[in-house]
Amino acid sequence: MSDRKILVTSALPYANGPIHLGHLVEYIQTDIWVRFQKQRGNLCYYVCADDTHGTPIMLRADREGISPEQLIAQVWKEHLADFTEFGVAFDNYHSTHSEENKAYSTLIYERLRDAGHISSRSITQAFDPVKNMFLSDRFIKGECPKCGALDQYGDSCEACGATYSPTELKNAVSAISGAKPIAKDSVHYFFDLANFSEMLRDWTHAGHLQPEVRNKLAEWLDGGLQQWDISRDAPYFGFEIPDAPGKYFYVWLDAPIGYMASFKNLCDKQGLDFNEFWSKNSDAELYHFIGKDIIYFHALFWPAMLSGAHFRTPSAIFAHGFLTVNGEKMSKSRGTFIKARTYLEHLNPEYLRYYFAAKLSAGVDDLDLNFDDFSQRVNSDLVGKVVNIASRCSGFIAKRFDNQLSEQCAEPALFAEFVAANTQIAELYEAREFGKAMREIMALADKANQYIDEKKPWLIAKEEGKEAELHEVCSMGLNLFRLLAVYLKPVLPVLAGNAESFLNIPSQAWPVDVSPLLSHAINEFKPLMTRVEADKIEAIVTASKENLEKTVEPELPQVKQCEPIADTIEFEDFAKLDLRIARIIKAEHVEGADKLLQLTVDIGDETRNIFAGIKSAYQPEDLEGKLTLVIANLAPRKMRFGISEGMVLAAGPGGKDIWVLTPDEGAQPGMRVK
Ligand code: MSP
Ligand code: ZN
Repeated sequence: MSDRKILVTSALPYANGPIHLGHLVEYIQTDIWVRFQKQRGNLCYYVCADDTHGTPIMLRADREGISPEQLIAQVWKEHLADFTEFGVAFDNYHSTHSEENKAYSTLIYERLRDAGHISSRSITQAFDPVKNMFLSDRFIKGECPKCGALDQYGDSCEACGATYSPTELKNAVSAISGAKPIAKDSVHYFFDLANFSEMLRDWTHAGHLQPEVRNKLAEWLDGGLQQWDISRDAPYFGFEIPDAPGKYFYVWLDAPIGYMASFKNLCDKQGLDFNEFWSKNSDAELYHFIGKDIIYFHALFWPAMLSGAHFRTPSAIFAHGFLTVNGEKMSKSRGTFIKARTYLEHLNPEYLRYYFAAKLSAGVDDLDLNFDDFSQRVNSDLVGKVVNIASRCSGFIAKRFDNQLSEQCAEPALFAEFVAANTQIAELYEAREFGKAMREIMALADKANQYIDEKKPWLIAKEEGKEAELHEVCSMGLNLFRLLAVYLKPVLPVLAGNAESFLNIPSQAWPVDVSPLLSHAINEFKPLMTRVEADKIEAIVTASKENLEKTVEPELPQVKQCEPIADTIEFEDFAKLDLRIARIIKAEHVEGADKLLQLTVDIGDETRNIFAGIKSAYQPEDLEGKLTLVIANLAPRKMRFGISEGMVLAAGPGGKDIWVLTPDEGAQPGMRVK
């Protein structure tokens, strides 16, 4: 039909959280468009990946006591399973923490550097002296300088809306350790975006952007382009900058390069030619579907990076709006922050695909998921109109005609009208006007139902000698249903696939030119879709509220106050400590002691008796067999209950929460070890 070569991407979801219904607007939108292109016979690849780098992922892994690599491997599986069950069919789902991405990030950086687009200078930043890391705005909290509201993050106050610099926050603390941040200098690397002002001005006016987006960019360009800070200091989960040890690429540098990396990975698996899609003179089309919040990265930084590194730039960026639920921002407490998984546990994913399709346009307007509207639309359009045609006609074809369609088409003109509609519907799909496409298709469904209503097969069936008419009317109904199913196929692949099995036909291409099925044997009809049940929606909202209760894990470690670091000791003082791994052989309560447990520990060549103040944190039996650290050369101390022959190392915020120091039990660097 056409020899277009198309590469499509959706934004790479962050690996630090689950997929939710807001994300799905984008992945479902992209998937519909890709399925449409494939159905049209175009060569089209859809690639994506998890966006794995950055501080939040590092901190979450830390908190869970696993490595970032373990964390992202786990999340990758969950994300892909969610997408797959929603019918989002990537040709490849990769990770930004991959060899391919490292190679292309390095290559692009080096090309930009060698062309003089990278500069470096020292900047001053907040630094957490306990965690030994620089703090971005979101990890600093304090009191709003305007209204005094507590616990305000970064550079704006949620209570009064004031904006300020994080250094103006009163009593600012690191949100990670609770320590007071200090100012510290460090060399950073910058991408000189201003070198691309001309290029970007041309590019943004060359038909690659939606009009609203183009206007936004014109404002940014008029405001002048700033240098973009592309480096972060260790510790950082990411790729080390090749010529700058201890400095890492900022996550947003390597994230879009992840599009290339995922495609490269696919090329290697399938023997495709990477350059055909990415070289400067490529004749392939490249499209990025994104949310409106990340336009800056995709419409400014990304084309500039690509052009500076001698790669092709995108054919277009397709931005969409944000999802609201029942008219409001998704909210955890209202139960409208709904995870993909929670939805899947209760409702058919194709309901949501259809609902989003019905609400999507080519613009960047937000779209609302209203639960009443959702049930009503799915029930009336899909169940009431589309599936209904098949169920109305199939009974007679089965009972009276042995599942065989008639030899003749009852209304060739009506069939031809349904086929002719393919041009208009295809234009709407191509232009991402899915809402309008759904309306066209539903108008056809109305026509098909009208046809049946006028012919009244249930009455014909009762009349003598009208067998042939009954046969033709019902066959006509099924032939119209077949076209509705093919038009809905990009949106409802499962329903369309089941319709194909029922009609006993192969996977349907776009119906530019099709004839009705005549004298054709079909299969037994099975219900294709059931109505949305209101109690299922309630169950989702309830479960989403419960999720919230179950995951009251602190967003960031809750360290209320951090004890000041004690006086410095010299190395010789430290070297005097004889620290030994010890196995706790026996642990017992101590008669009359509130805090103490009596431990018998094996330190290799001898056993010791130690009294440890960890009773509030442990049942004695839980300790037996555990390993811990002891100071083996502490002078024996006579206590009220006996002689203690050493000290067990334990950690905790202090007071009664003291734990034996094992890494899986919440010990945090910076806590005083006693
Ligand atoms: N990791 C970055 C993208 C890097 S692309 C090189 C990111 N990740 S995200 O997980 O926050 O979002 C992924 C996509 O989902 C983005 O395009 C974002 O706009 C979109 N959405 C996230 N929440 C959304 C809604 N509530 N509604 C619609 N889209 C939303 O950004
Ligand atoms: Zn305030």
